[in-house]
Amino acid sequence: MPSEKWWREGIIYQIYPRSFQDSNGDGIGDLRGVIDRLDYLQWLGVDAIWLNPITVSPDADAGYDVADYCAVQPVFGDLGTVDRLIAEAAKRDIGTVLDIVPNHSSDRHPWFIDARSSRASAHRDWYVWADPKPDGSPPNNWLSAFGGPAWTLDALTGQYYLHNFLPEQPDLNWWNPAVRDAFDDIYRFWFDRGVAGFRIDVAHGIVKDKELRDNPLPTKDDPPWVHAHGQRSVYNVERPEVHDVLRRWRALANTYDPPRILLGETYVRDVRSMGLFYGKDDELQLAFNFTYVHAPFEAAALASVVDESETIIPLDGWPVWTVSNHDVSRVMSRWAVGDERKLRCALLSLLTLRGTPVLYYGDEIGMPDTRLRKADLQDPLGKRYWPAPRGRDPERTPMHWSDTPGGGFTKAGARSWLPLGDVAARNVADQRRDPSSTLNFVRGLIATRRQRPDLRTGAYHQLPAPAGVWAWQRGRETSIALNLSDEPVSVVAIRGTVLISTMRSRDGERIDRGLELAPWEGAICSSAST
Ligand code: NOJ
Repeated sequence: MPSEKWWREGIIYQIYPRSFQDSNGDGIGDLRGVIDRLDYLQWLGVDAIWLNPITVSPDADAGYDVADYCAVQPVFGDLGTVDRLIAEAAKRDIGTVLDIVPNHSSDRHPWFIDARSSRASAHRDWYVWADPKPDGSPPNNWLSAFGGPAWTLDALTGQYYLHNFLPEQPDLNWWNPAVRDAFDDIYRFWFDRGVAGFRIDVAHGIVKDKELRDNPLPTKDDPPWVHAHGQRSVYNVERPEVHDVLRRWRALANTYDPPRILLGETYVRDVRSMGLFYGKDDELQLAFNFTYVHAPFEAAALASVVDESETIIPLDGWPVWTVSNHDVSRVMSRWAVGDERKLRCALLSLLTLRGTPVLYYGDEIGMPDTRLRKADLQDPLGKRYWPAPRGRDPERTPMHWSDTPGGGFTKAGARSWLPLGDVAARNVADQRRDPSSTLNFVRGLIATRRQRPDLRTGAYHQLPAPAGVWAWQRGRETSIALNLSDEPVSVVAIRGTVLISTMRSRDGERIDRGLELAPWEGAICSSAST
């Protein structure tokens, strides 16, 4: 039985199920494929996997439009396969975290089909409906996160329904106690099957302003992304009442042994707002830090986000870090711009900050975004905004397992749901054999983290360092420095022994007069006297 707070010291590995491993040759990853790859994940050293949605969905938004919250999308398997996955993962001390989408359902969910059938239907009030304005226009000015108005007129019943994302994703009405009860049952259904917890989609946004007030327009002090969106989304997300729901879910998660984890997709762009979702250790245990993901890859900027997060996250709270996911360009293409040295520095930060790292599948081998043609696109955002780079398919392409036809992902000759990237350039099989590969570097980092309590639980303190360098101490005897600059540097605050460096040849080197780092080099050092 894992300890109550196992996730604090553990590493979560994010699996995009469509792209991890295809076990039946249909070109789409599935749950049996994930089971087949558990030995790899155990070898890598992860403690939990988080799977993007595997529930029944017409796939208007890749599973984030759920038509049945308690059944498995047939292309992935069935409930029996999930049970086997949970059991097989547990045998390897790996917890299984699923994705839940409480903000909205699919427009094909029976609740919504009933809701739109008449104004008097049993489920009408499970969604957010409002009358048109006298001129027939939408009830207020809210915009969808995917562009265009957040309202669609339902011709049959003459009212608009709200959708913060696609029209195929109607927002549920979280003011309705029946919706709250229904989701309690959904959580229990999965918790009882043994899932370790949930990543909660749009955790910051499920409750909407009861009066449906207009969002204010951006002011000159607002950041560029607010201007790009066209309004400050203060009434359709981040309402104070969301905390009541999070507390309710936490209380439910705490009735299990060990307590189930709630990992929120708290998509807010400042650390202060993100910190609110921890509550008084009675809301989310982990709230994703998107300020870090979107920070520039510069020492001062990253250090400042971490410093602020350390200040803001309540003392008994626990940060969570990630550098890629299924919604943003991969770290190899974004921060590292194709440079292996930079990639390793990014991964070093991910695995050595105080907090739980969430590692996106393929980042351990440095998979870049895959260039795609218009005809390849699956993501509604990609199709809508082509050729603008807003689509999310490039970071969702199949895992590179080997340099064989099908890349080890699917059988030779099968057409994968998205094209494979350059599997010859980077794949697990080759990198496993090469002791100096990024894969073995990541595995070494994970092993070092396991061996050193400082890296798992030690406090974070920033250390003095030259411009362009970010250095910090963890616990009593471990320090880390990243030279995020084109100049060689010396970090005098660090003495001891190199445990791991992004350039492996230095491991074990004694540091008596300050740590010398080449451009874009990073290292973990032990300051224990040996
Ligand atoms: C966040 C998910 O990560 C994203 O992929 C999805 O499109 C939106 N929420 C809507 O569910």
